[in-house]
Amino acid sequence: MKAPSILDTPGHALYHRTMQPFPYDARLPAGSAPETEENGVHPAAQVHPTACVDKGARVGRGTCIWHFCHVYSGAEIGENSTLGQNVCVTGTARIGNGVKIQNNVSIYDGVVLEDDVFCGPSCVFTNVLTPRAFVCRRHEYRPTLVRRGATLGANSTVVCGHEIGAYAMVAAGAVVTADVPPHALVMGVPARQAGWVCYCGERLDFGAGEACACGACGQNFILEDGRPAAVKKP
Ligand SMILES: CC(C)(COP(=O)(O)OP(=O)(O)OC[C@H]1O[C@@H](n2cnc3c(N)ncnc32)[C@H](O)[C@@H]1OP(=O)(O)O)[C@@H](O)C(=O)NCCC(=O)NCCS
Ligand SMILES: [Zn+2]
Repeated sequence: MKAPSILDTPGHALYHRTMQPFPYDARLPAGSAPETEENGVHPAAQVHPTACVDKGARVGRGTCIWHFCHVYSGAEIGENSTLGQNVCVTGTARIGNGVKIQNNVSIYDGVVLEDDVFCGPSCVFTNVLTPRAFVCRRHEYRPTLVRRGATLGANSTVVCGHEIGAYAMVAAGAVVTADVPPHALVMGVPARQAGWVCYCGERLDFGAGEACACGACGQNFILEDGRPAAVKKP
């Protein structure tokens, strides 16, 4: 009979840590690892021995979880995502594919990060608007939805109940207090729109016109209802 292990002791700091070699190239080509999952963690996911992935969490293939992270039971993280040092993902948080989360970020219940979202170091999510230590607000969580490809700058804060549009860019240190349109660049406290950005992250300059091409990657855009819409190249 197998001796009991601290790794199987709920509540222990090392409970259910995943013992796989590290470091490791997270971006595996499709088909290079078996598709079976062990306790919700894909065998081609990489979890540092100091990280704690609770039973019941799901971690997709090629995802890399670095030092001192904690992924709660129920949390779902897609494929080829990266959690930097000291990232916490609670049970109803959802993280898509190709998401990059830098050091010291907590993804709380009610937060959804779609594919290819970038979270800068120490950016802050919230889920209660008027917290009190002595009032239970667990049933009043407000959601935060970060759409595909959006960037949250270092040390920015997202006040809960808002949506960050696809490919939007939130500047370092900004405090988001309202929905952010797709491709918008917002900065400051409170965050105000300062322009538009391309898929590649560079600013778009429409001048006085209705069309422009990204100076960095050449993608063409037109303004539709005052918002940038990509024009497919013929
Ligand atoms: C917002 C950002 C994309 C703007 O870059 P940019 O277009 O090159 O901006 P500029 O440096 O030309 O600055 C333009 C103006 O915005 C101001 N500005 C730039 N970044 C700002 C910020 N984070 N907050 C407030 N104002 C900012 C500048 O002071 C300047 O103001 P001025 O016109 O009055 O002089 C960039 O500054 C930023 O915050 N990037 C995020 C970096 C980050 O968090 N990375 C995390 C991974 S390490
Ligand atoms: Zn571009």
